Amino acid sequence: MTDRTLPNTPEKPYYERHIFFCLNERKNGEDCCAHHQAQAGFDRCKQLVRQAQRSGPGQVRVNKAGCLDRCAAGPVAVVYPEGVWYTYVDASDIDDIVNQHLIGGKVVERLLVPPHLGH
Ligand code: FES
Repeated sequence: MTDRTLPNTPEKPYYERHIFFCLNERKNGEDCCAHHQAQAGFDRCKQLVRQAQRSGPGQVRVNKAGCLDRCAAGPVAVVYPEGVWYTYVDASDIDDIVNQHLIGGKVVERLLVPPHLGH
């Protein structure tokens, strides 16, 4: 008997880590992650994970997402299974998320979204 609460939960997740980047773009002029280099962040993350040969089942998956409803902290990305929320500014931030967290398994404290920041 295990202490798992959900039925049919696999022992090991399909992906070791799964990161979702908000790429939402608002055409009405309201602020959104797409206005803060979200596509560039996503592209760099995907490229680095591939270059490190850590992409795929049992490893890391980098996915696009629509609005994650934490726009005030944007651009944002969230990593599961830990449920850690990041914001980023430039390529070196993405490098740290990939190397330290997605591959290294350590949270990048300096890029965490403050808990109170949301919509
Ligand atoms: S626009 Fe990115 S979280 Fe809402």
